[in-house]
Parts: sequence; structure tokens; C-alpha cells
Amino acid sequence: MCKLLLSKLRFMVFAVYLMSPQMAAPTLSCTEENSNKRSPVVKMLLRSSKMLIIKTHSDVFFLGAKTRSDVDPGTHARPLLAAPAPPNPPVVSDSIRLGPSLSRARARRPPVAAPPSLAAAARLSLSSGTYRSGQKMLGVVRRKVSGGSSPLTILGQTLPFLRAAAAPLRSYSSAFKEMTVRDALNSALDEEMSADPRVFLMGEEVGEYQGAYKISKGLLDKYGPDRVLDTPITEAGFTGIGVGAAYHGLKPVIEFMTFNFSMQAIDHIINSAAKSNYMSAGQLSVPIVFRGPNGAAAGVGAQHSHCYASWYASCPGLKVLTPYSSEDARGLLKAAIRDPDPVVFLENELLYGESFPVSAEVLDSSFSLPIGKAKIEKEGKDVTITAFSKMVGLALKAADILAKEGINAEVINLRSIRPLDRATINASVRKTNRLVTVEEGFPQHGVGAEICTSVIEESFGYLDAPVERISGADVPMPYAANLERMAVPQVEDIVRAAKRACYRSVPMAAAA
Ligand SMILES: *[C@@H]1O[C@H](CO)[C@@H](O)[C@H](O)[C@H]1NC(C)=O
Ligand SMILES: *[C@@H]1O[C@H](CO)[C@@H](O)[C@H](O)[C@H]1NC(C)=O
Repeated sequence: MCKLLLSKLRFMVFAVYLMSPQMAAPTLSCTEENSNKRSPVVKMLLRSSKMLIIKTHSDVFFLGAKTRSDVDPGTHARPLLAAPAPPNPPVVSDSIRLGPSLSRARARRPPVAAPPSLAAAARLSLSSGTYRSGQKMLGVVRRKVSGGSSPLTILGQTLPFLRAAAAPLRSYSSAFKEMTVRDALNSALDEEMSADPRVFLMGEEVGEYQGAYKISKGLLDKYGPDRVLDTPITEAGFTGIGVGAAYHGLKPVIEFMTFNFSMQAIDHIINSAAKSNYMSAGQLSVPIVFRGPNGAAAGVGAQHSHCYASWYASCPGLKVLTPYSSEDARGLLKAAIRDPDPVVFLENELLYGESFPVSAEVLDSSFSLPIGKAKIEKEGKDVTITAFSKMVGLALKAADILAKEGINAEVINLRSIRPLDRATINASVRKTNRLVTVEEGFPQHGVGAEICTSVIEESFGYLDAPVERISGADVPMPYAANLERMAVPQVEDIVRAAKRACYRSVPMAAAA
């Protein structure tokens, strides 16, 4: 339904498809005014979102290729790598993503950021309906680039104003002790946009409609259409634009209406974002956040209820965060936006409306959480239960039930799936000697499988019982409500697994 609303959005999409620098570039453009008369090629581009290459007079910018054979890697790589160094190259933090050899390579060759002209192009392409013909639009992009007025300078000029506007909204939060996950995410976005003019938000319905789940409420009014960009239904298109903007020093936050739809754009997430730092020997930094609701919702069937944590977490170059509470949501989203690497930020639709107590420290605008660090939500000594996102709530409920039966469970909220906090899990299992992993996703090659292997590698001798793995059922999500309930982990499943691990007698499960 939300998707239908997109039809009224003002946007202009253009793509300059360029097979090689020698070939003249056919130019495509489309505005709201002529949207009914789109050429078949533009319609195809809009539908399948194959934004390819934008060429300006000075650079060829790679947005994303339809297939590998569309673009010779050398064609786009060269101009990017040859771009002149700006006065202040962005700092790329040392982090887990690089092996020692690459860190050395990077130490020899400091990171080089290219000028942010792609962002200028992206901004022009999305924010205004005034440029009618592709030729003219290219001209505008050229002038913009050669005139030296980058979006960073423009944003820099508006920063004092934005800061002033943000001040009253920021002070409201310290008055509350409870905060919903929705408000936590909204305030984190708001504060990071206010603190750093390079941060912008892009996605379907994030602006005029205030976000399909109202996470971006108020942000369009506050930061304007240059920094809160409504896009057409083109995941591969706007994700590619986002990755290109990140190559050039901006910090995009890309919202997927739900993570189902990130499948349309996974090529950009993996091939364009995750691998670029490594493949450019540390010259390219891709500070981008992909965020949106992930995991099973209620009654939406197989295509719509799917946890992608283990998919993205298996990919080097990405960080994968899974907030549970409002504290997690605020602290991890801020950390994700500040991070120099691509971060997949998996929220949960069913948690948005839940309230959690938050401390004054959490409400402070400087608050953030370390990436790669789990939180022990409840200490215990008899069995370790690991969980993330919504499943943390179930694990805590299970721990309450277990406590009544004399089992003191330790509940670990993983917070970060990649990097995984193996040390915390390891230490906990060495203390409790028992482990139950909980996740919503499929069992095979899941997060639980990784944790189990890690514990066996590090602390096999400490295990007093087989590891129990609770996960979603190994089937596409059923639509029927009774079957859906059986396909996602329930509190009783966790309780039973923990009791088995503690060698308590567990009666047979009642028939559904
Ligand atoms: C997938 O999309 C549907 C809407 O089409 C949404 O209701 C559902 O929650 C989504 N699921 C996930 C896992 O994002
Ligand atoms: C697990 O704990 C042991 C003992 O403290 C330690 O030697 C090992 O490095 C730990 N492993 C991880 C991954 O933290």
C-alpha cells in the first residue's frame, strides 16, 4: 500500500549509460511532468533499477552494473583511483575488516577521497524536477562540478542553522525515562544528521510520508529535501546511488522499507560496498548504513518474513548490527553512522512500538555503543542463552520461567552479529558450561551454527551438555497463523532447550 503512494512523489531519474569512455553516451531522463510518457528504456530502468554509470566531464562514476560484462572493471576503477587528494582526506579507522597485509598496504598509501561530485549528481537527479532534458542536466552537473561548489560546502553553510533547529528537539528527550525503539532510532538519526552535514537519508517514503514505519518522522521538515530523499521504488537504483555517494565522502543512510527488498540491491551491498575497501587496498572507504525492519512480521507469508542476519554476516567487509532495546537502537545506530565501513542495520518491525527504560547517559547526544560488543542482559551461572533482536525478549522471558524452576540462566544480547563478540560468549560458556542459541532465521548455516562452532573451537572441554540451537523452522514462512507460530521460536522452546541442557526432565511438547 505504501508503495502506491510513491507514484505521487516528485522525482526525476536519469541514467547515462556508457559502455566505454570512447562511446557517445545516450542520455535518459524522466520528470514528473512526462512520467506517463516514459520511454520503454526508462520504464525498464525504473522497474529493474539498473542505474549504471553517470559521466561528468571530469570523472566516470560507477553506480552499479546490470551484469558483470556490462562494465569492464578497469573502466570505472581508473578514474576513481586517479582522483586527486583533497586537502583533508577522511580518516579510515583501523578495524577488523582488514587482514594484516592490507593494513600494511594502507599504511603505505594513505586513503584518497575523490571529490563528492557523484553526490552532486545524485542530488540533482533526485531532488528537483527542473531539469528537463538529459543534455541540459548533464550540463548542470558539469557546471556544478567545475564550479567547485560541492554538496559538502552547501551543507556546511547550512549547518549552523541545522544545529540551532536541532537544539530544542534534543533537549526534550532527557525529560523521559522510557523511550520506544521507534523514538530511539528517530532521535539517533536526527542527532547524527545534525552533528554531521555529510549524513543524509534516502529511501522509499522516508520524506513526505515520514517513513513507512515513521522512523524518519520530522526529518524532512528539519533537514529539507536535499538530505531526506524520497526515491522511486528502485532498491537497486537508490542503493547504488548511495554507495557511489559514500565512495565520495558522504555518509548515506539507506532505508529499506523492509529487508526483504534489500534482495533487489544485494549486489550493491556486497559487491559495491562490502568489497571496495579491500579491493582498493584501503583507498576507498564506504561509510554507509543500510537499515530497515528485518525478520518475521505477522501474517505476511514467505517472501515477507525472513531474517537476513546470517546472510549478511557471512560477508567480509560488512558489519551487521541487530538492536533489541531502545538503548541498543540509539547507541548502535549512532555507531553505525559514525563508522567508516558499510553497516547492515537490522531492525525489527514488531519492536518499534515497544518501550524500554533509558538512562540519562543513553539520551546524551554523544552516546554510542561499541560495534562488536555483546551485552549480558541478565547474569546467570547455569546455562548461557545467546539471542539477538526480538529474540532477546523471548530469552529474557524464558530466563524468568527457568528461574522459577531453580535454573539461573545468563542471557547474552549479541547486538553485533558481525563482528561477533566471541570473547563474551566464550567466557560465559566457560562459566555456565551450557549453551542454547536462539535466532529467528533458518537453522542451516545460521548464526547459531557459527556460535556453536566457535564455542567448540574455543571451549569444547568446558561443555557439560550438547549445544542446543533454537531457530526458525527449515521451511519458507507459512502463511497460516497456526503454522506460522510453529515456524518461529517461542518462549517455551527456549525453556525446554535450557532444561534439556541442564539435564532436567522435559515432557513431550503438547501437540499444536
Ligand atoms: C516484508 O515486506 C512486507 C511488506 O511487503 C512486510 O509486511 C514484512 O514485515 C516484511 N518482512 C521483512 C522481513 O522485512
Ligand atoms: C576463550 O577463553 C580462553 C580462556 O580465557 C582464552 O584463552 C581464549 O582466547 C578465549 N577465546 C576467545 C575467542 O575469546
